[in-house]
Amino acid sequence: MPDSLRIQHRKLEYKRLIPSYLLSHHTLLTLLWIIGFIVIVIWQRTAVERLLIYRGLAPSPRPIPKLRPLVFNLSDFGAVGDGVTVNTKAFERAISEIKKRGGGQLNVQPGYWLTAPFNLTSHMTLFLAENAVILGIDDENYWTLLPPLPSYGYGRERHGPRYGSLIHGQNLKDVVITGHNGTINGQGRSWWEKYRKNLLNYTRGPLLQLMWSRDIHISDVTFRDSPFWTLHPYDCENVVIRNVTILAPLTEAPNTDGIDPDSCVDMVIEDSYISTGDDGVAIKSGWDQYGIAYSRPSSNITIRNLTVRSMVSAGVSIGSEMSGGVSNIIVENLLVWNSKRGIRIKTSAGRGGYIRHVIYRNLTLQNVRVGIVIKTDYNEHPDEGYDPNALPVIEDISFTGIRGQGVRIPARIYGSPEIPVQNITFQDITVGITYKKKRIFQCSFVQGRVIGKIFPAPCENLDWYDDEGKLVRQSTNKNTQDLDYDG
Ligand SMILES: *[C@@H]1O[C@H](CO)[C@@H](O)[C@H](O)[C@H]1NC(C)=O
Ligand SMILES: *[C@@H]1O[C@H](CO)[C@@H](O)[C@H](O)[C@H]1NC(C)=O
Ligand SMILES: *[C@@H]1O[C@H](CO)[C@@H](O)[C@H](O)[C@H]1NC(C)=O
Ligand SMILES: *[C@@H]1O[C@H](CO)[C@@H](O)[C@H](O)[C@H]1NC(C)=O
Ligand SMILES: *[C@@H]1O[C@H](CO)[C@@H](O)[C@H](O)[C@H]1NC(C)=O
Ligand SMILES: *[C@@H]1O[C@H](CO)[C@@H](O)[C@H](O)[C@H]1NC(C)=O
Ligand SMILES: *[C@@H]1O[C@H](CO)[C@@H](O)[C@H](O)[C@H]1NC(C)=O
Ligand SMILES: *[C@@H]1O[C@H](CO)[C@@H](O)[C@H](O)[C@H]1NC(C)=O
Ligand SMILES: *[C@@H]1O[C@H](CO)[C@@H](O)[C@H](O)[C@H]1NC(C)=O
Repeated sequence: MPDSLRIQHRKLEYKRLIPSYLLSHHTLLTLLWIIGFIVIVIWQRTAVERLLIYRGLAPSPRPIPKLRPLVFNLSDFGAVGDGVTVNTKAFERAISEIKKRGGGQLNVQPGYWLTAPFNLTSHMTLFLAENAVILGIDDENYWTLLPPLPSYGYGRERHGPRYGSLIHGQNLKDVVITGHNGTINGQGRSWWEKYRKNLLNYTRGPLLQLMWSRDIHISDVTFRDSPFWTLHPYDCENVVIRNVTILAPLTEAPNTDGIDPDSCVDMVIEDSYISTGDDGVAIKSGWDQYGIAYSRPSSNITIRNLTVRSMVSAGVSIGSEMSGGVSNIIVENLLVWNSKRGIRIKTSAGRGGYIRHVIYRNLTLQNVRVGIVIKTDYNEHPDEGYDPNALPVIEDISFTGIRGQGVRIPARIYGSPEIPVQNITFQDITVGITYKKKRIFQCSFVQGRVIGKIFPAPCENLDWYDDEGKLVRQSTNKNTQDLDYDG
């Protein structure tokens, strides 16, 4: 194209553009006007709000409901929520007042309320407002020492006494811990470091431990960075934990289990999110000879609708301390994601006790290394006094409706000649796998059945029934050892 022509062409184009340019100019002006208007409105609003806050008239984000006839505010007992003042005395005064009055509600208002361990009382509600944070002091000199748990004989990681929990209670009934998603923060970091450097002389304390108590309700709060296990109901009855968030770093936060029901009966854990440095949930009932002597099972426990992440251990575990027995457990509607293991049953010779009548249904495993694990050589003992002939029984366990993607080993069921896994049932299992080796459904000393078709194909140890329950193929060898720890 010659230059003159090109210029003409451009002029033409320019002319054609004029009307639409004018049009967009007009739109732009309108737009600017609207934006200006909105900015002024917002500015006025914040100015008014600022004025209200300045005069102390701003409405609190969510009014605290009255859940008991008597209500107290922590700040009325001299507490200061500045994150620096130590408020142990204020908590103690408030709770002793509630005790004196036969019960009541303690509101923890927005702020950072630093405290050393304190005890709850019966018929009380601890209510954490939105943006209320209870902070545990991370100087162990402030932490009370308590005698070992009778069913453990020792502190769990050091002989002798153990640190109590930040929030503690014994022989209580009717205790509620709830709120508008306020937080109980154990500031575990320095505990974890000291533990790793072997600087602690006693077993670390849980964030919340209630012993020999009943009618406990915990909901709508966040627990984070526990020094040790996060929630530890011990020998309790009728415990409901619902709609809570439990957080700790996924690695380098040793033993920060989410919830450890220990010798508890009648318990529900539901609608919660757990992401911690150890098991999400671990059902326990005492350790070797001490647990056998104490002899209090964990039973009638339902765990449902949890989302769990655990890169060190498993989403939901049973054991390894299970010497008082564990039975009648339902685990359902569980999602475990980006984790090391989905569910795990762990025990060993010396434990005694039993794990029976456990139902797992509707489990979803997303990017999990090993889906279902039963391990019978978890050889960690309190002392040399354990009885190697005290063999646990594992039986009547069923898995129904297991889905997954990105799972490396869907199942590793590791019984032994002394501790065989008996009467185990698999039904309706479809797990997408990422591991190309042959042995992906691994078994050893397992007796039980598969009903219908499952994917991946089960190990040879199991009998195969069709969907109508008719035997299709009897297993020829229940003791086949087909394990591969490479995965
Ligand atoms: C507790 O504090 C709230 C404001 O945060 C106030 O409305 C309420 O009256 C106080 N209650 C008591 C019992 O002092
Ligand atoms: C809490 O109660 C237990 C049992 O009564 C007691 O041993 C412990 O010293 C109390 N802890 C605190 C911090 O008062
Ligand atoms: C769960 O807790 C959150 C805040 O902690 C709350 O907003 C929500 O209403 C609760 N859900 C149920 C079902 O109670
Ligand atoms: C509660 O707070 C935690 C931690 O701040 C947060 O992760 C969680 O999403 C909150 N829950 C609800 C229901 O708002
Ligand atoms: C542990 O015990 C040793 C020796 O008795 C003592 O020097 C040290 O201060 C103790 N450490 C803690 C954290 O209590
Ligand atoms: C099991 O626990 C549930 C929920 O706590 C309770 O309603 C039920 O009565 C318990 N069943 C038995 C047999 O104890
Ligand atoms: C499951 O729990 C989540 C909180 O983790 C909650 O938002 C949801 O409503 C619950 N679903 C059912 C079916 O209860
Ligand atoms: C199975 O569990 C998932 C959560 O992992 C839930 O969304 C779904 O509704 C459950 N299915 C049934 C049939 O309960
Ligand atoms: C095997 O376990 C199932 C539950 O998973 C139970 O219904 C059945 O009675 C058990 N069979 C035997 C022989 O104990």
